[in-house]
Amino acid sequence: MVLSIFYTHLKSIHLLGVGKVGCAFLSLLDQNKYKVTGVSDSKYTIKNPCGLDIAELLKTKEQDKQALSSYKLSNEISENNSYLRNTSEFCIDTSPTNLKRSEESFKRSQKILQQGSCLILAAKDSLFYGIDELLNEYPTQIGINAALGGTGRNLIQHLQTLRNYCFAISVVGNATTTSIIEDIEKGSTLWEGIENAGRNGLLESDPTFDLDGSDALIKISIVAKAVFGFKYQLNKIERQHIQNIDPELIRYRKKIGKTTRLIGKANLDGSLKISYDEVDLNSPLCTTHFSVAYQYHLNNNSNLIFTGNGIGPIGTAKSIIEDLTSHSLKRETKND
Ligand SMILES: NC(=O)c1ccc[n+]([C@@H]2O[C@H](COP(=O)([O-])OP(=O)(O)OC[C@H]3O[C@@H](n4cnc5c(N)ncnc54)[C@H](OP(=O)(O)O)[C@@H]3O)[C@@H](O)[C@H]2O)c1
Repeated sequence: MVLSIFYTHLKSIHLLGVGKVGCAFLSLLDQNKYKVTGVSDSKYTIKNPCGLDIAELLKTKEQDKQALSSYKLSNEISENNSYLRNTSEFCIDTSPTNLKRSEESFKRSQKILQQGSCLILAAKDSLFYGIDELLNEYPTQIGINAALGGTGRNLIQHLQTLRNYCFAISVVGNATTTSIIEDIEKGSTLWEGIENAGRNGLLESDPTFDLDGSDALIKISIVAKAVFGFKYQLNKIERQHIQNIDPELIRYRKKIGKTTRLIGKANLDGSLKISYDEVDLNSPLCTTHFSVAYQYHLNNNSNLIFTGNGIGPIGTAKSIIEDLTSHSLKRETKND
């Protein structure tokens, strides 16, 4: 009898950020294909070249959300930033989106990419700072699917066409406000809508980010920067806090067979705005709170419309895994 032993190379991953999305990602990861060799939060990095015990890690985080340091296995624990000497094949960034730190995050992303790792982002700050540079310099190493609600792979795939022919972009990228609007249309108050979004895991850790329009603004700015190359100063762009919308107007639009969505709009002339607009029910922008829509208007009177359902921690984690799978396959094909 001949015994065959198959050796499967487990691809190594370093995870930045072990919050809601990071934990959802770990819980969905196929451990027959990948090993997590490092994890970082805001204070610590834990490493084990043989692979960390994911079940143990998730259990520790469940018991004490703050405590990466209390993950007491025989792993190397160090102060943060040691991931910059990262040697993993993939780095998954689920750290917070913090625009005040966007340049720092951008430099961190560049460093990770320069080391040859593939970088998959749910965090949006480094993309806000320099998505065009990252895509131009590292086109085969970067994944942005999760940062754009599951539409980032489409954007990369069609980027050249969009750069050549797109003159305007309309985005309904924030599912939280869509959910709140749906609830108001059904008769709920604004606060009931917000509470419901929170219960369904749709609110960011800092809910203001969703509610004051910042998240929607960041998303339209990211895609506009990727396609048109403009850098926007967000503090100069008007945005409407959801608490200032008129519930009666929302219900009136519903009554006349229309709806309302928070739409980000960018144009080739450099203009950018976000507002709660009336939307036809048959418009591609008439999403439900389970999806987002990115509509790219092209010169020849046609549109490219990408919809995604990378919503909430699990949906976002699935979008990360789509990127991970696709980049793994590309790397395998390259090495064959
Ligand atoms: N939640 C969603 O549905 C969703 C959807 C799409 C995209 N996103 C994006 O995904 C990212 C994560 O969201 P989340 O909801 O999982 O946030 P979260 O629950 O607040 O988790 C953030 C994690 O990042 C860690 N962290 C903070 N600063 C860090 C640093 N400098 N380096 C490495 N890790 C750091 C935090 O550690 P500490 O505990 O030590 O602070 C925490 O573990 C955000 O950028 C968000 O915009 C979220």
